[in-house]
Amino acid sequence: MATSGTRGQWSGQLGFILAAAGSAIGLGNIWRFPYSAGEGGGGLFVLIYLLFVILIGVPVMFAELSLGRTTHRNPVGAFKALVPKTLWPAVGGLGVITGFFILAFYSVVAGWTLGYLFSSATGGLASAVDGESSTAIFTSLIGSPLQAIALTAIFMVLTVTVVRGGVSSGIERMTTILMPVLFVLLLVLAGRALTLDGGVEGFVYLFKPDFNELSVPVVMSALGQALFSLSLGMGAMITYGSYLSDEVNLWKAGASVAGFDTLIAILSGLIIFPALFSVGAEPTAGPGLVFVVLPTIFNSMPLGEIIAFLFFALLAIAALTSTISLLEVVVAYFVDERGWSRTQASFAIGGVCLAFAIPSALSQGAVDALGEGGLFGWDFLTLNNNIWGNYALSLGAMLICLFVGWKWGAKKFVDALEAGGNKRFALPGSSIVAVLIKVVCPLAVLLTLVYIVITGSYF
Ligand code: PFF
Repeated sequence: MATSGTRGQWSGQLGFILAAAGSAIGLGNIWRFPYSAGEGGGGLFVLIYLLFVILIGVPVMFAELSLGRTTHRNPVGAFKALVPKTLWPAVGGLGVITGFFILAFYSVVAGWTLGYLFSSATGGLASAVDGESSTAIFTSLIGSPLQAIALTAIFMVLTVTVVRGGVSSGIERMTTILMPVLFVLLLVLAGRALTLDGGVEGFVYLFKPDFNELSVPVVMSALGQALFSLSLGMGAMITYGSYLSDEVNLWKAGASVAGFDTLIAILSGLIIFPALFSVGAEPTAGPGLVFVVLPTIFNSMPLGEIIAFLFFALLAIAALTSTISLLEVVVAYFVDERGWSRTQASFAIGGVCLAFAIPSALSQGAVDALGEGGLFGWDFLTLNNNIWGNYALSLGAMLICLFVGWKWGAKKFVDALEAGGNKRFALPGSSIVAVLIKVVCPLAVLLTLVYIVITGSYF
């Protein structure tokens, strides 16, 4: 629908919720959440993450959706429409750049899901019976330079193809059926994982906070994870909100998306951690964690090969509905602000982004892209994940809150949220959200960032 010069629109409330949930639910929930939780010490990370989802994620979700729906513009255009001739559109610009760089590492991991999909179809995961054998499979799969780049490229082509098709035809249709199927499959896997030997230990690890683990990097990583998982801080929800009509109740839509997303993250934690303890893998294994742990569960299940295939197919699709939203932010900017055609923008940005993805694709064993130990001791993929997926999103979210709370104004924000007569579902809801947007969110992010700068504890 967005191809013919007119802007597209979601078919209705449900269509929007599914598409926005499609953006939110992705590798962030199933790949990034477990490994960040594992590196952050388990229960404490999860607790802080949940607090951030409620106190920062949900209000920022409302803020971005209202900005988008009010202006019907991309992130840069939205600020320009509300406060022309100011520096605020740069906040949208930061979002567009952030989206581009997140896509450049996200597509690498999304490529791995395709690799696992092919392997599960050809029996290549059958030997993954414990942590060691499964790690060997992971290392060989991502360790070939050609394969790592090819998988990333295939994924980028898929993303470009859908984004070129425009919002409602391409994006919405994909999520409507597949998200519920993914949810059911995750439930089955969680059931299996929890009944494995040692499964309970994983459950305790996930939910029992150990306050000795408290540190600034853990807080930062939980904040970044909350925003990353909800697709916030870079204008993806401004862009998706821009295709919304006034009939949609933003309170319900925003809260539902946040609720589904968090449920899926917790569910994937309930799969990974019990399984991890049962096979004796390390919670701190990093980006490979999920890919190492999951095949071992499939191999412990009847019909495991079929389930593995189905799971990686759904994971690849969940990743695709997220990469679509990342590319859509950048494409919407070039289409709206620079007058490019949708086709031109999709191909050009997808192509350049693929070039930027190559260092991340090679940094996981194929080539030590940055020499021994990588830059600052981080490999390229992890480095980008931290810079763009934690810092840039947090900064973006803080600036969006400052804008909405103080410049645009809480009154206009709440009116926009309730446009079309959709009143809040809880009475004091709007004043609570206003306080969170004006004070709590910006202050929490600012304190965390300042503390990090002062202490130098960046990662
Ligand atoms: N929320 C997506 C995930 O959890 O996989 C990733 C993402 C998509 C982040 C879009 C940011 C964004 F704007």
